[in-house]
Amino acid sequence: MRRILVTGGAGFIGSNFVRMLLDEQDCFVVNLDKLTYAGNLENLAGYLDSDRHKFVKGDICDAGVVGSLMDEYKIDSIVNFAAESHVDRSITGPKIFIDTNVNGTLNLLLAARDRKIERFLQVSTDEVYGSLGSEGMFTEDTPLSPNSPYSASKAAADMLVSSFGHTFGLRYNITRCSNNYGQFQFPEKMIPLMINNAVNDKELPVYGDGLHVRDWLYVYDHCTALWKVLSEAEPGEVYNIGGCNEKANLEVVRLILDRVGKSEGLIKHVTDRPGHDRRYAIDASKMMGQLGWKPSVTFEEGIVRTIDWYLENEKWLSDVVSGDYQSYYDSMYSGR
Ligand code: NAD
Ligand code: TYD
Repeated sequence: MRRILVTGGAGFIGSNFVRMLLDEQDCFVVNLDKLTYAGNLENLAGYLDSDRHKFVKGDICDAGVVGSLMDEYKIDSIVNFAAESHVDRSITGPKIFIDTNVNGTLNLLLAARDRKIERFLQVSTDEVYGSLGSEGMFTEDTPLSPNSPYSASKAAADMLVSSFGHTFGLRYNITRCSNNYGQFQFPEKMIPLMINNAVNDKELPVYGDGLHVRDWLYVYDHCTALWKVLSEAEPGEVYNIGGCNEKANLEVVRLILDRVGKSEGLIKHVTDRPGHDRRYAIDASKMMGQLGWKPSVTFEEGIVRTIDWYLENEKWLSDVVSGDYQSYYDSMYSGR
């Protein structure tokens, strides 16, 4: 049985990954999460009592905690999701992005190196490649050219991971996925934010002209790709993950309004994000060809499933948007 340390497993993608592992794979999971504003134990409801899952509240920057968990639970693999993950927050406060995304990853790498573990999987992002014009796609050979403090911190972490492979022989993989959507995503990110605002008849704040393009992937399909890499990839390989679902933001917003049954009059164009990347598009042919992975749903199926999930889980949504989130929302959007 594999014994995996998942970091950030109470966040959006991490919690979906832990659920998938416990449902579908025979492995033991230690889940280390600091429970920042983005971490939520409700995302793991029904899974916290499993005898194959040990949740620990703690910081990946804490060498003592990381080392003792790895020794106590005889960890053979690390899947590192833990991160500050929101571009807008990295613009207003970049420092914590370096603390967690760079120094936290370094701390995990040192622990992994010293214990010669079987695999270190770094969950990265297509945003490390920068922005595309109207043509072309990111391949694994595209040079890293990050534009935001968030993507710069993720690119720095990627480089540390590969340097540990080169210098110390660490057995690693890096995955770079496009924008995820699905259940349990914190509603500061575009899709759940727009759903929540539409439900509550609030304006939908579209940055700039709304023609920025993202390449959307259903979160469960990201999780199956990560498992493929963890269980089948050769060490040292980097994989792009994406489902060929390029959409302009306005197109997604209109789809949400239609499904929720609200008028397009709720759309409000607001001041653009500084340094806003225009377009992301992922070439995932290496992942599909070498590892035989493919997404299970189209965007059209996944987005309907996602909107309906938020509509059916209003308590989850209202719990998450109460408290601190209100002051975040006011400071980010009022007067914009
Ligand atoms: P998220 O913000 O929803 O979750 C991050 C989790 O990490 C939270 O549970 C938080 O409590 C935890 N965390 C933060 N700092 C920590 C620390 N110092 N120690 C321990 N835990 C800490 O993020 P997400 O959207 O689930 O993204 C997960 C990972 O996937 C990130 O590394 C992100 O860069 C990457 N990624 C995200 C997307 C996307 O579209 N969301 C796409 C590609 C890659
Ligand atoms: P986001 O979900 O923050 O992901 P990322 O910036 O990492 O791609 O944003 C997705 C797109 O939606 C991005 O082009 C910015 C845009 N956006 C808005 O137009 N309005 C919003 O309120 C938010 C949060 C994002």
